[in-house]
Amino acid sequence: MASPVTWERRGRVSVITVNNPPVNALAQPVREGMLRCFNESMADPAVEAIVLTGGGRTFMAGADINEFGKPMREPGLGKVIDGYESSEKPTIAAVHGTPLGGGLEVAMGCQARVAHPKTRLGLPEVKLGLLPGAGGTQRLPRLVGVERALEMITSGDPIPAPLALELGLVDEIAEGDHVAAAIAYAERVLDGQATAGATRARDEKVQGVDEAIFDKAKEKLARVARGREGPLRCVEAVRGSVTLPFDEGITNERRLFVECHDSEESPALIHAFFSERAANKIDDVPKTTPTRPIKSAAVIGAGTMGGGIAMNFANVGIPVRIMDTDRASLARGLGVVRGNYQRAVDRGRMPQAALDARMELIQGVSDMDALAEADIVIEAVFEDMPVKQKVFTALDKVMREGAILATNTSTLDIDAIAATTRRPEEVIGTHFFSPANVMRLLEIVRGSKTSAEVIASAMALARTIRKVGVLVGNCDGFVGNRMFHEYIRQAQFLVERGALPEQVDRAAYTFGWAMGPLAVSDLAGNDVGWYIRKRHIAEGLYKGGGYTGAVADALCEQGRYGQKVGKGWYLYEEGSRRGSPDPEVEEIILRVSREQKVNRRTFDDEEVLARLHGALVNEGSRILEEGFAQRASDIDVIYVNGYGYPAWRGGPMYHAERQGLASIASSIAEFRKDEPALWPESPLLERLAREGGSFKDAN
Ligand code: CAA
Repeated sequence: MASPVTWERRGRVSVITVNNPPVNALAQPVREGMLRCFNESMADPAVEAIVLTGGGRTFMAGADINEFGKPMREPGLGKVIDGYESSEKPTIAAVHGTPLGGGLEVAMGCQARVAHPKTRLGLPEVKLGLLPGAGGTQRLPRLVGVERALEMITSGDPIPAPLALELGLVDEIAEGDHVAAAIAYAERVLDGQATAGATRARDEKVQGVDEAIFDKAKEKLARVARGREGPLRCVEAVRGSVTLPFDEGITNERRLFVECHDSEESPALIHAFFSERAANKIDDVPKTTPTRPIKSAAVIGAGTMGGGIAMNFANVGIPVRIMDTDRASLARGLGVVRGNYQRAVDRGRMPQAALDARMELIQGVSDMDALAEADIVIEAVFEDMPVKQKVFTALDKVMREGAILATNTSTLDIDAIAATTRRPEEVIGTHFFSPANVMRLLEIVRGSKTSAEVIASAMALARTIRKVGVLVGNCDGFVGNRMFHEYIRQAQFLVERGALPEQVDRAAYTFGWAMGPLAVSDLAGNDVGWYIRKRHIAEGLYKGGGYTGAVADALCEQGRYGQKVGKGWYLYEEGSRRGSPDPEVEEIILRVSREQKVNRRTFDDEEVLARLHGALVNEGSRILEEGFAQRASDIDVIYVNGYGYPAWRGGPMYHAERQGLASIASSIAEFRKDEPALWPESPLLERLAREGGSFKDAN
C-alpha cells in the first residue's frame, strides 16, 4: 500500500506532505511515513532544510482517535517529534486548517511554524478525557507562557492564527500559499536572515512562575468540570514544565496521559465524539441527497422559544423575521433578544457592533404575509394541537412553493400537523431546547411523509446554525422528552413514596447531571408538565394506573409553577436561580402521601439512581426497538447535548452497557413486581440482558 506521506525536493528544501484524508490523523502509517521521509531527507546531501505540511483541508488534526484503547504500534509520536526537533537541518511546519492535538504537538516539535491566516490551533485532548501526550504540555508553556498554556490545554479551545503569532506559537503568518511561505522561511533561516530552534532548548524549565497558578486553575476546574479528573491531570502535567527538567516533564506527562487513557472518562468522551458524527448518517437519506439553501428564515411566536430560535439564525448572518399577531408580545420578545445580546456585550464576549448587526437581521412583523418568501418557517406557538394546526393551515396558503414548514413542538404528532397542509412532505419537526440560543441539541423529527430532501436540508441547517442535529421518529415526546417523561415519573414516584426533592436531585447532581430532575421542572415551568399530564389523562394514558403526578399537581394547584414565580419544588429568593428546600413543599408531599395511603419509606441514593436511570434506559430501549431512534448512540447524543447528562459518562445507553444490561434488567424486573404500570416491558432490553448483547446489535 502506498505510504500516506511523501517528500520532494524543492531547491535546497525537502517538502514532506502528509495525505491521510479527511483530517490527516496521525495513524501508525502516517507516523512511520513521517519518520521515513525525515530520514531520507536527512540522508540526501542536496537537502538543507525540511518543511512539513498536510495535504488537503488541514495540517494533522491529531492522533487517530480510533487507535486509543488498542496496543500502541511503533513508532510512537514522541519519537517522530524528537527527530524533527533535534534535526541539524532546520525543520519548519507549514500549517493550515486545524492543527490540533498531536498535530500541533508535531508543529511545536518543528523548529519554526508558518501558518495560513485562517488556521486555528489548539490542544483539544481534554475534550476526549486525555491530555496532550506527545510533549504538548511541556512545549506549549515554553512557547506561550504557563498561564495561556493552562487555559488552552484545560479548555481545549483553539486559537486563531493572528493570536498565535502574537503569543509566539507561530513565527509567521503566510501571505498567499503557506507552503511556499514556509519554503521561503526555510531559505531565510539557511541564509541567516530568520531564526529557527528547538522549543525545548529555549529553557531548561519555565522560569518565574508563581505555583499558586496551578492550585487556582484546579479550584476553577473543580467547579466548571465537576466530577472530572482529566482536566486536573492536565494542570499537573503543565506544572511539570515549571518544576521538572524537560525530559522528566515528558515522563511525568506520559504517566498522566496513561492514567487519563485508562480512566472511565476518556472512552466515554470518545464515544460522545464519534456518536455526534454518527448522528449525521441517515440510512435512507444518502449524503448525496440535495439540500435546499437557507438564506432567510421566519419564526412564528415571539416568546422565549421563538426569540431564542431567531437568534440562532442572526448569529450566523441569516436574516430572520419573527411574527406575532400581538404587537405588545412582539415588542417584549424583541426586547428579550436584545437583552440577551446586551448581556454578552456587557461581559465582553461580543462587540457592540455585532449586537447591532444581529439586531439588524431580526425583524418583527405582525402579519403572516410578510413571511411568504422565507426559505424556512419555524412555528413556536403554544403547545396545543388545534392552535398549531390553525397556524399550519394558514402557512400552507401563504408560504412560497419549496419553503420548509417546521414546527418546534416538543411532544405533538407531526403527521397530524402536516395533515392540515397540502404539502405534508415539506413539513418537519425542529425541536429546539431551552434556552434555544444556547443548547446545542436540535431534535429533527420526521413525519411519515417528510421528504428526504427536507430531512437532509434540516440536518444541514443544524450544522449551519452550529447545533448537533439528531433525526428522530414521530412518537409522543419524540426521543428526548419521551424518555424524560419516564425519568420524571420516577422522580415524582420517589417523592410520593418517601424521598424528598432535595435527595432525588442531589443524587442526580452528584452523578454528574447539570441539574436534578425536579430542579429542571422548576426551571422549565411546572405548569408545562401539568398541562401535558392533563392531556395524557384525557387520552387515557393512565387507565392501567402508574400516575405519579399527584404531588406535582398539588404544587401547581397552589401556583408553584417554578422559578418564574419564585416557588415550585423549591423556594427561590428574588433574582436567584438556586432554590432552597421549602417546609411548605414537605407538608404538601406528606399530605399527598397520606391521601394516597402510602407508607413512606427511605430510599438510598443507589436506589434513587437505579430508578431514574433504569427508567431512561428502559424507555430508550423501547424507542430503539420501535424504530423511533436510528441507533443507541443517537440517544446518548440527545441526552448529552439537550438534557445536561454528563458527557464524561458517555450518555445513558452507553453508561447502561458499562454497568451491565443484565444487572439493569434485573433491577427493573424487581421494581416492576410492585409497580407494573411504571415499568412497561422492553423485549429488546430483556433479550440483550439474557444474551449478553449490546444496543449496537439492535441499531
Ligand atoms: N481521529 C480519527 N478520526 C477523526 C479525527 C481523529 N483525530 N478527527 C476527525 N476524524 C474523523 C471524524 O470522525 C469524521 O469521520 P466521518 O466522516 O467518518 O464521520 C471525519 O474525520 C471528519 O470530521 P468532522 O465531521 O468532525 O469534520 P469537521 O470539519 O467538522 O471538523 C475537526 C474537523 C476540527 C478536525 C474535528 O473533526 C475535530 O475536532 N477532531 C478531533 C480533533 C482532536 O481531538 N484531536 C486530538 C486527538 S487526541 C491526540 O492528539 C492525543 C495526543 O496527544 C497525541
